[in-house]
Amino acid sequence: MSKIPTLRLDRLLANMGYGSRREVQQLVHAGLVTLDGETLEDPDQRMAVTRDLSERMLIRGKPLDPPPGLALMLHKPLGVTCSHKEAGPLVYGLLPERWRRRDPAISTIGRLDKETSGLLLMTDDGNLLHRVISPRTHLPKRYHVTLDRPLRGDEAEIFAAGTLMLEGEEKPLLPARLEALAEQSAYLTLTEGRYHQVRRMFAAVGNHVTALHRDRIGDLILPGDLEPGQYRVLSEADLALILPPAKGA
Ligand code: URA
Repeated sequence: MSKIPTLRLDRLLANMGYGSRREVQQLVHAGLVTLDGETLEDPDQRMAVTRDLSERMLIRGKPLDPPPGLALMLHKPLGVTCSHKEAGPLVYGLLPERWRRRDPAISTIGRLDKETSGLLLMTDDGNLLHRVISPRTHLPKRYHVTLDRPLRGDEAEIFAAGTLMLEGEEKPLLPARLEALAEQSAYLTLTEGRYHQVRRMFAAVGNHVTALHRDRIGDLILPGDLEPGQYRVLSEADLALILPPAKGA
């Protein structure tokens, strides 16, 4: 059984961006932190860091943010970037301001291009991040692709073969699954994530991607009611759709 981590109350709140260690101590001394309806008085007390804290603890009368171990899905809109290296607004700007001051920090699990929309996972849990992005996991990711020109008809076979070489690369792509939806649109499911992979795969078969949207990772589907720019914290059930439980957990 995995051990539940504990943290001093002031450290927990400071790490979650509620203020400096001193500021959060003042919050506690002012009686503004409650647990299960009782006012907490000792900022030094150790707290078991469990998911349900955000239902049980109030800060200034408001539910605590999701504690460390947070994972969320974001409906990434077009025009925002996943990387500080690219120009333009960042996906982190779509999260509450306080969440940008968390330690451990929240980062994206893999990336989508600036001009790709759809399902993006984010977490502060390094272990989860590595399990999802590990090449050994082969987690399927599904993209809805809109094309400039009609499909030729041989793309599904070429992508499934596991022999397609992208320009400038030394290793062939793993087999990928293409499902044609119309003359100029398809689902493409990949189990790896090379740079601009979908766009480069279609370039390799003489086409051009005009719109790209990821709607599925593992068995987790971007909910229809999650609008571009909105996010949702993942439940244990959602996480189980992405990855099987870790061995020994
Ligand atoms: N493939 C791409 O070309 N872009 C993405 O954002 C994701 C996969």
